[in-house]
Amino acid sequence: MTKNPKKRGKFITLEGMDGAGKSTHIPNIIAALKARGLEVVSTREPGGTRLGEQLRALLLHDAMHAETETLLMFAARREHIANLIEPALKRGAYVLSDRFTDATYAYQCGAKGVPSHKIKQLEKWVQGKLQPDLTLLFDVPVEISIQRLTVAREPDKFEREDAKFFEKLRQAYLMRAKEDPARFRIIDANQALDKVKVIVKNIISTI
Ligand code: TYD
Repeated sequence: MTKNPKKRGKFITLEGMDGAGKSTHIPNIIAALKARGLEVVSTREPGGTRLGEQLRALLLHDAMHAETETLLMFAARREHIANLIEPALKRGAYVLSDRFTDATYAYQCGAKGVPSHKIKQLEKWVQGKLQPDLTLLFDVPVEISIQRLTVAREPDKFEREDAKFFEKLRQAYLMRAKEDPARFRIIDANQALDKVKVIVKNIISTI
């Protein structure tokens, strides 16, 4: 045993439909954690490593079978965990990831129909016991999400899907949250940005 072993860091993930506004909150979350003197590693999925970012480019723009998509998401995730997430947690850093495995359950399973048992198998293989310590789910009604996306930039493949897809997505995310209430915080993101910021800040102060 080493003397003074470093306390393991925390793993925080952000989830929600495209247009729910989660990315807006990342700088504030980083600032709040850094103000406590913590090392913060901010990352995203798919991506987070050189290989992962190359896979992201394929995943977001190339049409493919939903199971191919699932496998590539987990390939990128394996790399992400081995090269970035796990080493950072080991040295005591707080890792903030813009999306993680809940997105695969929501998009590839809930919205695209890949059986959840297949995703569960990959999750076990790739993650072992690793799970986020806290997941913030930014929730908005589908119409709002679509409205926000139409005024945003050039949409990627997922952002061009229709309302039915988005509704399945939303329900799948809410179901995930219901199954693991200790890990999830559902944030009503359909209110003034300043209000959402306060809610996020309060939640972050608890971890
Ligand atoms: P997103 O997180 O919305 O990034 P940006 O804000 O830059 O658009 O984009 C990632 C997309 O990838 C998003 O549409 C959801 C999708 N995705 C999946 O379908 N499955 C997954 O497992 C992950 C991590 C993401």
